[in-house]
Amino acid sequence: MLILNKTAGVFSKPSKRNMYEFLRSFNFHPGKLFLHKLVLGIETSCDDTAAAVVDETGNVLGEAIHSQTEVHLKTGGIIPPVAQQLHRENIQRIVQEALSASKVSPSELSAIATTIKPGLALSLGVGLSFSLQLVDQLKKPFIPIHHMEAHALTIRLTNKVEFPFLVLLISGGHCLLALVRGVSDFLLLGKSLDIAPGDMLDKVARRLSLIKHPECSTMSGGKAIEHLAKQGNKLHFDFKPPMQRAKNCDFSFSGLHHIIDKMIMQKEKEEGIEKGQILSSAADIAAAVQHTVACHIAKRTHRAILFCKQRDLLCQSNAVLVVSGGVASNLHIRKALKIVTDATQCTLLCPPPRLCTDNGVMIAWNGVERLRAGLDILHSTEGIRYEPKCPLGADISKEVGEAAIKVPRLKMKI
Ligand code: KG4
Ligand code: ZN
Repeated sequence: MLILNKTAGVFSKPSKRNMYEFLRSFNFHPGKLFLHKLVLGIETSCDDTAAAVVDETGNVLGEAIHSQTEVHLKTGGIIPPVAQQLHRENIQRIVQEALSASKVSPSELSAIATTIKPGLALSLGVGLSFSLQLVDQLKKPFIPIHHMEAHALTIRLTNKVEFPFLVLLISGGHCLLALVRGVSDFLLLGKSLDIAPGDMLDKVARRLSLIKHPECSTMSGGKAIEHLAKQGNKLHFDFKPPMQRAKNCDFSFSGLHHIIDKMIMQKEKEEGIEKGQILSSAADIAAAVQHTVACHIAKRTHRAILFCKQRDLLCQSNAVLVVSGGVASNLHIRKALKIVTDATQCTLLCPPPRLCTDNGVMIAWNGVERLRAGLDILHSTEGIRYEPKCPLGADISKEVGEAAIKVPRLKMKI
């Protein structure tokens, strides 16, 4: 097993002493009494190293995050070994910062919860090794966390939301619609058949060289598209939303991506500029792409709501749609979804943007939910492995498609 070498800031040969020294640095607040259970959450599934301490009632006592976005923007995408190295360099500091901010000493923790699936193998491995060392030294229970389940349940930390509810998770790595019936009880209604919307927006932003745009140089692709779209006219380009004939809740973004790519190439020819320079029509393209993505996501979600209503799967008096994941911070997409929830008498809820993107709080909170429900509280971590691929819940997307629900047309006046 590997552990973090404090001076070099990289993982080195196992040394119980290093971890011991790390733990000794928390000798503060002797005798302080915490009335509630406390969970430390650790997240390293993709490109954010994050940790947080959350109590049983949902109070966030301390949190810390190190984002790798800027590094990956420069390399034009996530290079797994680079992400792994950055997690290694930052995990100890981030966990330390979260614990220090919380004023909780490691011995006072009730459990340690860590993302073990799904995600990048090399990234997941760093968080898991570190957590297993900590668990071993502290003799605390370990709670393995499913990253997407954690995204889905974050809303229960910020709002009073009872099961069942519908969740739409849209990020750089995922795109799915699921019915949440319990802490660990999910029905998958639909998912992307190819890439996720965040991935597609990142690719378009890269193709448009938005990193060279003075206003967008430090933004993720999706955020850059949203920013630029405000200055553009979405009607200047007419991209059709994908899968209009498929009456299911699946998504697709690859075809649209290729059409946009071709359009950019054509515009470069027209404007007489080289690939790598910014098109004068970049803002219009951004606005049209964003709107088409919003319409596609809204339509599939509309069908999912109608399916759940038809089968009486949601609360009749207060049906709730939760939207989360990095792309959920996009206000244009949120507005499109609000049009859908207004038309179907549902309540639309989104966690605040900092809890929509990857964070440690959602992992710690999922640990709390599992602790309360008595689900997967491990006192022995033998044989525990990370799982890069892992579905969410029971897949009923075929049944959803067979219902072939026709979705009434809504005016997307955004
Ligand atoms: O959830 P997240 O932090 O990480 C995972 O992918 O799991 O989501 C990151 C994704 C990136 O693709 C990024 O471009 C996208 O979320 N994103 C946005 C916005 N902010 C971040 N997409 C659209 N609009 C935004 N404002
Ligand atoms: Zn995520």
